[in-house]
Amino acid sequence: MQESTWWQHAIVYEIYSRSFQDSNGDGIGDLNGILERLDYLVQLGVDAIWLSPIFPSPMADFGYDVADYCGIDPIFGTMEDFDRLLVEVHRRGLKMILDFVPNHTSNQHPWFLESRSSPENPKRDWYLWRDEPNNWLSNFGGSGWESDETSKQCYYHSFLKEQPDLNWRNPAVQEAMFNVLRFWLRRGVDGFRVDVMWLMIKDDEFRDNPPNPGYHPGQASNNRLLPVYNTNRPEVHELVAKMRAVVDEYRERVLIGEIYLPVQQLMTYYGKDLKGANLPFNFLLLQSAWSAEALAEIIFEYYEALPPGAWPNWVLGNHDNTRIATRIGSRQAWIAAMLLMTLPGTLTMYYGEEIGMTNVSIKPDEVQDPAEKNEPGLGLGRDPERTPMPWDGSASAGFTTGRPWLPLGADHEAVNVAVLEQDGTSILRLYRNLIDLRHSRPTLVRGRMQFISADEGVLVYERRGDEDRILVLLNLSADSVKMTVESGTILASTGFDQDGQRVNGMVELKAAEGMVLDLDS
Ligand code: NOJ
Repeated sequence: MQESTWWQHAIVYEIYSRSFQDSNGDGIGDLNGILERLDYLVQLGVDAIWLSPIFPSPMADFGYDVADYCGIDPIFGTMEDFDRLLVEVHRRGLKMILDFVPNHTSNQHPWFLESRSSPENPKRDWYLWRDEPNNWLSNFGGSGWESDETSKQCYYHSFLKEQPDLNWRNPAVQEAMFNVLRFWLRRGVDGFRVDVMWLMIKDDEFRDNPPNPGYHPGQASNNRLLPVYNTNRPEVHELVAKMRAVVDEYRERVLIGEIYLPVQQLMTYYGKDLKGANLPFNFLLLQSAWSAEALAEIIFEYYEALPPGAWPNWVLGNHDNTRIATRIGSRQAWIAAMLLMTLPGTLTMYYGEEIGMTNVSIKPDEVQDPAEKNEPGLGLGRDPERTPMPWDGSASAGFTTGRPWLPLGADHEAVNVAVLEQDGTSILRLYRNLIDLRHSRPTLVRGRMQFISADEGVLVYERRGDEDRILVLLNLSADSVKMTVESGTILASTGFDQDGQRVNGMVELKAAEGMVLDLDS
C-alpha cells in the first residue's frame, strides 16, 4: 500500500453536531461549541472531524432534511462561525469533512416547493413524481410514496415524507448538486461523507420490488421487500464517478460514501480505475458477531476483496448504530479500540467512543428520532447513541448551561472526560496511547495484514512493514489464555502494566486483554 495523501493515514472523528458541545445554552450542540473542544481533539490525536449536517433544516430527521445546501442552520451558528471554525481546524493541523445529503432534500427546500407547485413547473422533474405509487417502501416505515392533492400525483421518499428524493437522472439536478460541492470545496472543506450513496438513483421503469423471504414480523417494515429496484442501481457508479471528478477539481480532498452492502458489492463503489469513492465506508465491525473467529473472517474477507490499489477503511461506530461499548460490553470496548487502531487504512471513530460511552436509555416521552416514533418498540430508535458528550461531572456534564436536547447518561458523573483524563489507566488513556502509536508506526497504517490465528477466543494478526513486524493479540474471551509468540517488546497493552516489557516465547493474556508486540526481526 502506497501512502500519499492525508486521508490515507487519518483517524476521522465523527461529531454528531447536536450533541458535542453547546455554546449558547439552548441545549443543542453548535459550531462554537465544537471550536471550544478542538484542543481536546488535538490531544486525543485524531486527524479529521466529520460533522453531521449543519445546514438549514426543519430538523424532521435532525439535519438530514436539508432546506439549503449552502447555508448554516441558526441552531448551529452562522456562516462566520463556520468560517472561523474551519480556520481554527486547519490552524491545528486538523481537516474537516462535511456531510453531503444528495439523495433527498427537505420538503421545505425551495426546489421542492417549486416542484410541487404544479406539474408544469420547470423543477417538476427534479423529484420523482408519478401518477400511481409502486410498492417501494420508506426506510422509516410505510409506503415510500406521498400523494399530493393539488397535482393528483405522488412523489417518492426513501425516508420521511418530509425528505423527497431528488431525480438524479436529471442533468440539472446533477449540476446544481455538484455546484453545492464546489461551494464548500472553495470555502476550504477537506472532503465529504456522502449520505446513502447507494440509494441515489432508482430504476427508470419504477419496477416493483420482490418480497423478502427472510422478513419476519418484529423487523423494520422496510425489510418486507428486497430493495432491488430502488437501491444500488448500476447507474449509481456513473454518478459517483462524476461526484469524484468534482472533488478532484480541488487538491487533496476526500470522498467517502455511506454504503450498507455486502462486501463484494461494496467494493464496486471504489469505481472503475478507482475513480469512484475514495473510501466506501466499511461497516463490517458494526455488524460482526464479537468473536475471534467471526472477526477474523470478516476482516480478512474484506481485506482480500479490496480491488488492487484500493485503500481500506474501518468504522467502529456512528450515529445510526448502537454504541460499541453497549453492543459488546464495556470491557470488550478496550479490545475494540486496540483492534481499530491496529487495522490498515483510514479509521473512523464516533464521539464518545474514547471514553467508553454507552447508549442511553430513552423514555417514551423523550423520544426524538422519527425512526422510533414511526415504528415504536422495534429497537429502531437512534436517540440512545446520540446523547450529549459528558465532559465533566457537573449537572449538565459541561455540555450545556441549559437543558440537553437528549438526556445525559445516568453514569455521566463517573464516566466523563474530566474524570478519565485524571486516570492514567482509563480507556481514554488507552485511546491516546494507541493513536500515538499508530502515528509513530506507519506499519500499523499501511503494513500488510497477516492472519495468524483465532483459537480459544484470541484473535492474532501481524502487521508487516518493510522493516518491522507488529503482532496484535486480542483476547475476546472471558478466560486468561497462554500463547506461544516470537520474542519482542510490548508496545501497548490494555492493562497498561506491561508496556515496554520484553516477551520471550510465551505471553499470558488475561480475560479481555489485548497486547501489541514489536517483534524482533
Ligand atoms: C443516513 C444517515 O446516517 C441517517 O442518520 C439518516 O436518517 C438517513 N441517511 C437519511 O438521510
